[in-house]
Amino acid sequence: DSKRRTVIAANWKMNMSLETAGSLITQLADTTYSNTVVVCPPYPYLYPVKLLLNQSTSNIQLGGQNVHEEDKGAHTGDISAEMLKDVGCEHVIIGHSERRMIGETDELVNNKVVKALEKKLTPIICIGETAEQYDQGLTKEVVSSQIQTALTGVTDLSDIVIAYEPVWAIGTGKSATAEQAQDIHEYIRSTIEKSHGVLADEVPILYGGSVKAKNAEEFSKMKDIDGVLVGGASLNAEEFKSIIQAFA
Ligand code: G3P
Repeated sequence: DSKRRTVIAANWKMNMSLETAGSLITQLADTTYSNTVVVCPPYPYLYPVKLLLNQSTSNIQLGGQNVHEEDKGAHTGDISAEMLKDVGCEHVIIGHSERRMIGETDELVNNKVVKALEKKLTPIICIGETAEQYDQGLTKEVVSSQIQTALTGVTDLSDIVIAYEPVWAIGTGKSATAEQAQDIHEYIRSTIEKSHGVLADEVPILYGGSVKAKNAEEFSKMKDIDGVLVGGASLNAEEFKSIIQAFA
């Protein structure tokens, strides 16, 4: 859809070293991309990666994997939105299921989204049902309540990205089918339309969960799938590049 930008985002999770991060970025940054490409390294590698990107002519953007909901203070082990901006991030993943699993609520996700937007970071808001919820047929109920709460108080949707990641598809090698994902993406967009009207048309909705070079193209053909959020397959330059290529 011409109204929406395409976003291909790499979530490295807790992987890579200074050395392997450097060589991956060097390989990815040897070209410019027609779509928005975002890499989200672990915190210690954000700034070294930024320096490498600055030396290149590539237009790859940087994102954090999480952020604290407050500005600063006594929060040992946490990172603020301003710090992410300071080291060159333009995006931040919020509400990944791996964080929801350790206690992040919809309300906390909403507070983080509001903070990120206030500091001019684009939130990549993750939603998705667990295997159990999927089996019980609760997928639509779960994603609509997650997205409604995440967007509470947010009026401008021009800097929002959503990632639909069914938890049962993450790291399992068992992705949703492109048709399944399309159905849920369309539903997510219609949910946003109910609260925010036509603005819903502008919001890129990414699919995540076992996206590989070999299945990326099928997702790219779907009208409400505007990109992908990639875990494991983003750690290899050739594989990630061919995923980017599938959406070009
Ligand atoms: O955020 C991306 C993610 O959760 C998907 O991981 O390894 O299944 O691509 P993976």
